[in-house]
Amino acid sequence: MTGGGKGEVPETAGGPAHHTPVLVFEVLSALQPIDGELYIDCTFGAGGYSRAIVESAKCRLLALDRDPSSIPVAAALAQEFPGRFHFAATPFSAMEDISTDNDFNPVDAVIFDLGVSSMQLDQAERGFSFMRDGPLDMRMSGEGVSAGDVVNGFGEAEIADILFHLGEERRSRAVAKAITARRAEKPFDSTLDLARLIESVMPRRHDDKIHPATRSFQALRLFVNNELGEIAEALCAAERILKPGGRLIVVTFHSLEDRIVKTFLAARSGGKGRGSRHMPDAGDERRPSFALLRRKPVEPGAEEVRANPRARSAKLRAGIRLDAPAWSDDDGLQDLPGLKLINLRR
Ligand SMILES: C[S@@+](CC[C@H](N)C(=O)[O-])C[C@H]1O[C@@H](n2cnc3c(N)ncnc32)[C@H](O)[C@@H]1O
Repeated sequence: MTGGGKGEVPETAGGPAHHTPVLVFEVLSALQPIDGELYIDCTFGAGGYSRAIVESAKCRLLALDRDPSSIPVAAALAQEFPGRFHFAATPFSAMEDISTDNDFNPVDAVIFDLGVSSMQLDQAERGFSFMRDGPLDMRMSGEGVSAGDVVNGFGEAEIADILFHLGEERRSRAVAKAITARRAEKPFDSTLDLARLIESVMPRRHDDKIHPATRSFQALRLFVNNELGEIAEALCAAERILKPGGRLIVVTFHSLEDRIVKTFLAARSGGKGRGSRHMPDAGDERRPSFALLRRKPVEPGAEEVRANPRARSAKLRAGIRLDAPAWSDDDGLQDLPGLKLINLRR
C-alpha cells in the first residue's frame, strides 16, 4: 500500500484509485455535517465522499464497500483520521448488523452513491466494460455467480427476462436466443466476445447514441451483484437504524435504481404507494417515517457534467427520519420491475 497523505491517491491492486465523486457538494449540503455525529457511507469506492465528510466536521464515519479493492484505500484513510474513520468490506444490505457491531446504531446519516466506480469500469480484468476485453466477471465482491455463469449456463428464457427487466432491452428475446445458439458451439469467454455477438443481432446504426451491448451489460451487472435487491434491503435497514432527525441521502445513476429510492421515500413520507397491495389494511395506520428534503431530485449542473460526463444521469434524493416506527420490509417495494428477478439467483 502506498499513499495516504492528504490529497495523495493511494494505489489499489489494480492501479491508482481514481474516481471523481459526483454531486459531492450537494451531498454535503443535504448532510450538514456536525461535530460528534455518526455517519455511514455505504459505498466507499475510492473514498471521495468519506474524505469530504470527515474533513468537513469532527464526526465519526463507518464506510462500507463489498469490493475488496477498496481495502487499501480505506486503510490509508483510517491512518489519516485515527478513531474517526472505520471500514468494513461488506455488502451494504448487512448494514444493520455491522452498524450495531461497530456502535453506529443508532446513526445520524446513511449515504449511498450507487453503481460502479470508475476503477471498476476501467479495469478490464473486472469484466464490467464492453469497451475493454476481459473475462465475463462483473462481480464487485469477486464472489457468487459471474456474468459468464449467466450467459453460458442460464436458460434462454431466464436470460431474456434478465435483459428485459434489468436492461430494459426491447430485443431481449432475440439477444437471448442468439446467446444460447452461439454458446452451444463455443462458450463465451470474454466481454468483447459477448459484445460482438450482441452487435451482430442489433447492428449499430450511425445515429445510435449508445453501443448495442450497453443495455445487456447493464442488466448482467445488476443481476450478478443483485444491485436492486441490495438497495431495497439497505433502504429498509437504514430506516431502522437512523435516529429521528437523521438523514438518508442517495445518489443514483439510472432509472431502475432511482425508482426504488423514489418509491421508498414517497411511500414513507406519506405520499404515493403508502399502502401496499400485500398489506392493504396497513396503509392508513402507517405514520410517515421520513420527511422529504425536497420533492424533486437534485441533479448535477452543466459544469459538473462537462467536467465529469459520468455525472450526467446522477440524481440525489434525500429524506429526514421522523420519529415514527420503521415500516415493514416489504411495504410497497416488491412490485417494482427488476426486484422479482431476485428469485432467479441461485
Ligand atoms: C459509485 S462508487 C462510489 C464512489 C465513492 N462515493 C467515491 O467518492 O469514491 C460505488 C461503490 O459502491 C460499491 N457498491 C455497490 N453496491 C454495493 C453493495 N451492495 N454493497 C457494498 N458496496 C457496494 C461499489 O463496489 C463501488 O465501489
